[in-house]
Amino acid sequence: MIKPKTSLAQILTAGILFFAAASIPAGAAEVRPGPDAGEAVLHGEALARLNCARCHEVGIAGESPRPAAPPFWSLSDRRPVATIAQMLIEQASPEHTDMPTFEITQKQAEDIAAWISWVQPLAHGRRLVIENCASCHAVTLTDESRHPDAPPFRLISKRLPIEALEEAFAEGIESGHPDMPVFETDIIQLQDIISYIASIQTVD
Ligand code: HEC
Ligand code: HEC
Repeated sequence: MIKPKTSLAQILTAGILFFAAASIPAGAAEVRPGPDAGEAVLHGEALARLNCARCHEVGIAGESPRPAAPPFWSLSDRRPVATIAQMLIEQASPEHTDMPTFEITQKQAEDIAAWISWVQPLAHGRRLVIENCASCHAVTLTDESRHPDAPPFRLISKRLPIEALEEAFAEGIESGHPDMPVFETDIIQLQDIISYIASIQTVD
């Protein structure tokens, strides 16, 4: 774990929270990085859950335990994500004195930043599907589709490979499906939607 430059009590609290987080039941519908996410992202997630989660929401949705600490999914609204590793290494959030400083290595900072980058498009994609698709499709790991014919997104890869989604959209998925509306999505939005859909694919 990264040692906060603060008191032992805070270190202990972080450790206790880590164990509490580790005991979230397996059934909790939380999106986790798949095996293709890469070592940096996985390591960054572990560091974030251990060191940052007592103040920040570190996942792709939800509010921070400490309201003043921005949820990680929203950080790109605030600063370019590419600057976060450097911010952590320089031990400072320039304007914000409330953010603690950490003794952190270059690699740890980069891995946390990789995790933060990973959650941005997923969080964006999730918001987009909730706004645009959830009226018909199931959009999480556990909900039901409201339109009887609309496949739950978590099962889409049984119908067509995720890699084919972008092209399918470009050609208009809707063509064969009268009930499915036509969307004008720009390419970034579409990529974020697809990243999110890919992240919730279930095996069974
Ligand atoms: C003790 C609570 C606390 C912990 C632990 C904490 N933060 Fe923060 N962090 C904050 C608060 C509060 C702010 C917002 C400060 C403000 O806006 O004045 C913040 C802001 C930030 C920002 C935005 C800064 C900016 O200038 O845009 C980043 C990035 C960040 N934290 C990353 C992290 C990371 C990474 C960790 C874990 C290694 C972490 N924080 C741990 C409280 C915390
Ligand atoms: C008004 C209801 C409705 C909305 C809103 C909707 N869909 Fe659909 N969608 C459907 C239905 C119904 C089907 C199944 C059509 C069929 O199989 O005949 C479908 C099928 C799909 C398929 C599978 C296509 C295939 O070939 O298997 C994908 C992918 C999809 N929708 C994505 C989306 C996305 C992404 C959004 C939001 C941007 C969205 N849909 C919004 C109704 C909807």
